[in-house]
Amino acid sequence: MTSADIRQRFLNFFKERDHKVLPSSSLIPFGDPTLLFTSAGMVPFKPYFLGQASPPFPRVTTCQKVFRSSDIDVVGHDGHHLTFFEMLGNFAFGDYFKEKAIPYAYEFLTKHLAIEEKRLWAGIHNDDDESDQIWTKTGIPPERIRRFGDEYNFWAAGPTGPCGPDSEIHYDWGEEYGCGRPDCGPNCEYCDRFLEIWNLVFIQWNRDESGIRTPLTKKGIDTGMGLERITSVVSQKQSLFDTDPFLPLIEHWEQETMPGAARCCSPTGSSRRTTGAAMSSDV
Ligand code: GLY
Repeated sequence: MTSADIRQRFLNFFKERDHKVLPSSSLIPFGDPTLLFTSAGMVPFKPYFLGQASPPFPRVTTCQKVFRSSDIDVVGHDGHHLTFFEMLGNFAFGDYFKEKAIPYAYEFLTKHLAIEEKRLWAGIHNDDDESDQIWTKTGIPPERIRRFGDEYNFWAAGPTGPCGPDSEIHYDWGEEYGCGRPDCGPNCEYCDRFLEIWNLVFIQWNRDESGIRTPLTKKGIDTGMGLERITSVVSQKQSLFDTDPFLPLIEHWEQETMPGAARCCSPTGSSRRTTGAAMSSDV
């Protein structure tokens, strides 16, 4: 399954569940002085979450081009962080909340992308007993649900605006990729065994400049799943740079810059072309 197939399956899945499919909005947010770039799928919908404008559709789905610099320092180091990427998302403006968002996500991953159930873990906010119950009912057993504070399970598009606790879905690459510590799990600081693939945000506050969170009249759903990350899981490649959105570009530029180069292995385990000189300096 290619990234294009996954994108289409995602949009179709939510279309069949009464979401309006909208095109990606501009990478430069329109009329939003708080952001330089569109950093999430929810950015174009902020006025709807805040109740400042009436949404033309109660449920929406998109594949939004986004740019993030918040973790630019790790881009290129771990194989799963990017600056520019595509984000798949489903959004509800007061129409449904956790009780639907969680089962939708689980159904899409397990039934439509055929991801093994035992590989999925959920991170939830320390205070979120409701999500705990919904996840357990949906299919993730308590031993694969971990609780975290705001550092991991609270989300906002910027310092101000719509925000809320979230629940992240993590993919387990397997014990053999872990650090072996007894408490190894999602957000482990010591290894990359777990990959966060989808963030389900339960929008319920508007945060102001002083950090005060005012409850919104209508709660909303904002989810974000990086297309490149889910493609890496579906194609069982731990590095995003070994998946179809990147390989043709990498191979093209390898050919342009190093014509006639031989193939060798990259640190990520992929096949790469490189020159004899580069090969010897690598060893
Ligand atoms: N809006 C949710 C996310 O980007 O993670």
